[in-house]
Parts: sequence; structure tokens; C-alpha cells
Amino acid sequence: MQRDGACTSLWQVDMPDYTSKSQSIPENVFDILIVGGGMTGIATGLLLQKAGKSCIVAEAHTLGFGTSGGTTAHLNTFMDSTYDQIISDFGENNAQVLHEVARKALNLIAANVQAHGIDCGHKQLPGYVYSQNEDQTKQLQKMLEGSRTAGLDIDYVDEIPVPIPFEKAVVIERQAQFHPSKYLFGIAKAFEEIGGVILQHCRVEGVEENDIIEAKTASGTIRARHLIYATHIPPGVNLLHFRNAPYRSYAMAVKLRGNNYPEGLAYDMYDPYHYYRTQDVDGELFLIAGGEDHKTAHEENTEACFTRLEAHIKTYYDVESIAARWSSQYFEPADGLPYIGHLPGGAQNVWVATGFGGNGMTYSHVSALVFHDIFVGRESKYADLFNPNRIKPVAGFTNFVKENADVVAHMIGGYFSHEKLESLAELAPGEARVVKYEGHRIALYKDETGSLHAVNPVCPHAKCSVGWNTAEKSWDCPCHGSRFSYDGELLTGPSKHDLEKISLRKLVEEQK
Ligand code: FES
Repeated sequence: MQRDGACTSLWQVDMPDYTSKSQSIPENVFDILIVGGGMTGIATGLLLQKAGKSCIVAEAHTLGFGTSGGTTAHLNTFMDSTYDQIISDFGENNAQVLHEVARKALNLIAANVQAHGIDCGHKQLPGYVYSQNEDQTKQLQKMLEGSRTAGLDIDYVDEIPVPIPFEKAVVIERQAQFHPSKYLFGIAKAFEEIGGVILQHCRVEGVEENDIIEAKTASGTIRARHLIYATHIPPGVNLLHFRNAPYRSYAMAVKLRGNNYPEGLAYDMYDPYHYYRTQDVDGELFLIAGGEDHKTAHEENTEACFTRLEAHIKTYYDVESIAARWSSQYFEPADGLPYIGHLPGGAQNVWVATGFGGNGMTYSHVSALVFHDIFVGRESKYADLFNPNRIKPVAGFTNFVKENADVVAHMIGGYFSHEKLESLAELAPGEARVVKYEGHRIALYKDETGSLHAVNPVCPHAKCSVGWNTAEKSWDCPCHGSRFSYDGELLTGPSKHDLEKISLRKLVEEQK
């Protein structure tokens, strides 16, 4: 199974790519075209197809290529935006609505597993959050009160499932976990069995927004009455790119000496926080731990994130071996809630789901429920809560002003102004950097064989300058999170285009 980075996640091991039934675009007009074959796209397609809508999913790569293949698959009813924050920004009633729909999302996952006999290690478990200093303990108390008001079953406990010292801890019942790619492929199969169509390697290159949407791909035109962008962040330039900031998170799956694997999901309260759980893959146990999050392209040496994470795990666990390590991207919304519904600035039949923060697995299924309400024409308090056209940027907006200051800095571009092309031979194999040569800025990567790959570092989306991700060997854009392979091929949007390739030979000859 392929993914958008050089590191291999635990979910890719022994998982061949999904094989779709359909290879070509059917002639008919579909009710709904879903762009993006990750958890959101497939879960939404399945629910809508079951509701009698004809759905087609177009995936630019293969199913789970994006963040669905790099998640750590915590299924939570409590979110990165804590309920006390939600209450203060959106009110008690909305906090209760959020909890209600998150619970329904977890129930939907469990129902899918059961209805379609999906062997994905789905398991209901308690989740634990623990404090490690006085400030966190105060925060934890607020979190507990807010969560109770929202309707969660939460209480203090004396023990946590991880061997880490703590001051106070709470337990939240009925959280869950699963093997995400096994689940994803399971619901994809169920979707196809009831008439849904999945096209892989089918990039939507352009969309004509009329009553009947016409989506152009290299293999023809898909026609549908509605279009949902389930692409993690919508492509093109949109208001939502200024309401979501891209972040990366790091994860490791390790084997332990002894059998000290946690029974439950656990979270500390640092910012960024660490998270833990156990996964059984075909009878073999793995501890999955994650953290070290940072804004995309804001960490010069992403390898160091793995080094710190490994040291953190080894402080508490007797690690026998590291089975997998990987990183993945998420989008942090400006006001703490995702954007699910009508695409701002789009035609009335164009929709979007984005801004899931670190709760993508839950919000993917919340999206399915919201779109189900929208398309069966039901009044929906959920659709109101997540409306992408909501005005209030509320809390976090000041941070977003800062985020946008970052964006401006990256638009000006950071590069090595005195670097000369001749010195590039000094790049070590596997190394990359952005250099300036006779007025041209060049993003250069030297591969393991010593060949140089040169691309224009200007992101085609809104002209920010990309930065190198050492761990995943990709060019990442700090502004809105587009990512490209070392030779410029688009891995994830919102950009719709590759980075421009540069011929070094031509460049040198032009200077002669
Ligand atoms: Fe927007 Fe690169 S993703 S400028």
C-alpha cells in the first residue's frame, strides 16, 4: 500500500494496494462525486450509497494514500479542542451536539465493522488523560467539568495504563481503536458491493461547476449533481486555506521486552501532547506512541522529531525493536471545530470536509453523518455546527493572525542567498536544500545514487516557498500544507499542480 511519504507506517505493512472493481468512468450522471479516497471519502460514500444516492469516489493515487494511511487511529469522543474550550467559544448546547455526533460517529464505525464483517481489530477501550504538573492538573479539572457538561462519561482514576508518573488522571469510557487500512478497505469493498464506484489513479484536474458538475480527469469526464471535496483540504485557493493550518505529527510502532502493552488509549497534556495505544496485527502486539507535532515545514530536521520521540518512549518502556516509524499531516482549524458542508465561494452543489485537527478518524465519520443529513434533506444541528461558512473565527483567531504572518514570511522565501550551483556537488546523498543560483531559486535533492533533482521551490498554490522534510523525503509547503515528492510530483493539495521541474543543464548553459 502506497502513502505520501518515504517512511512506512504500520498500516502499510503486508497491505497491498486496494483493487477497485472499476477501471473506467461510467457514462451515467452520479448523484454525488466524492473527490478523495481516504476515510472521509469512503465512509461518506458508503453511507450515502446506502441511503439510495449513486456515488463515485475519484482518488488521485490509491485508497489511504494520504493521512488515512498515516493516522494512529484513535477513535475518540473527546477532541483536541477540549469541551471546556468548546463551551466557552460555542456554548453548552453546541458542546453537547459535538459530543452527540462524535458518539454517533464511533457507533457508525462499530456498526460498519459488524455489518460488513470487517476484520480490523476494532476494539472498544477506555481513554485516559493525565496531568504531570500543577497547571495541567488545573486544566484537567476544567476539562473534566466541560466534558461532563457535554455529556461524556468521565471520572478521576488512580491508575493509568502507561508506566508514566502523573499527578491526576481521568478516564473516559467507550473510546475505540482499529487497524485503519483494513477498516478502510473493508468499507470500500462494502461500498462497491452495493453499487458505489471507486476510481484510483484518477486525479480530478478541473471542475466545471454547473447544475451537473463536470470533473475532468486524464481518463475522461465524471458527471454528478454534487461534488464533495474529501481531499483533507480543498484544492485551489479558498477561504478555508486561511482558516486551517497544516501540522505534522510523528508516530512509532515498537515491540516491547515483556508484555507491558497498555490496555487503553492514553494522552499526556503537554503541547504538543504524546499519545499511546496498543495494536494487535495478526496476533503480534505493538505499542504505538506519537507526538512531536509541529507546523508543516517549520522543523529543519524532521529526523530529530523521531529521535526525540524514540528517546521519550525509551524513558518509560523497555523497547526491543522499532517496527515502524512514520509521520503524517493534519489541519488545525482556526476556531477548534472542523468545516463540513458547503464550500465557501463554491457553487451551491459543491461541498467540503476539512479541519479535523488530530481527530481525523472520528471527524471522517462525523462528516459522513453530516453529509447524510444534508443529502437526505434532513434538518441537521450537526450541519449547522460545522458549517464552513460560519462567521465567527472566535478563539484561536489571534494565533491565526500569527500563522498568517508566517505565511507572509514564507512567501518572501527563505533561501541560501550566496550558494553557488557548483557547490551543490557537496550535498550529501539523501540531502536537499533550497539554493539561489544567478537569480534563480532552486529546490535541490541529491538521491542515494548521487543524481540531482531540481525543482522550482515556489509552491504553485499561492507562491510560498517549500521546505525539505528530511524524514519523509518530500518538499512541504509551510503555508497551506501542499506536499510534493523530491522531483516535484504533487503528493497532497491544496495545490493542483506539481512543482515546476528545472533542467540544471539548461540553466548552466543559459548562464554561459
Ligand atoms: Fe498554499 Fe503552498 S500550499 S502556497
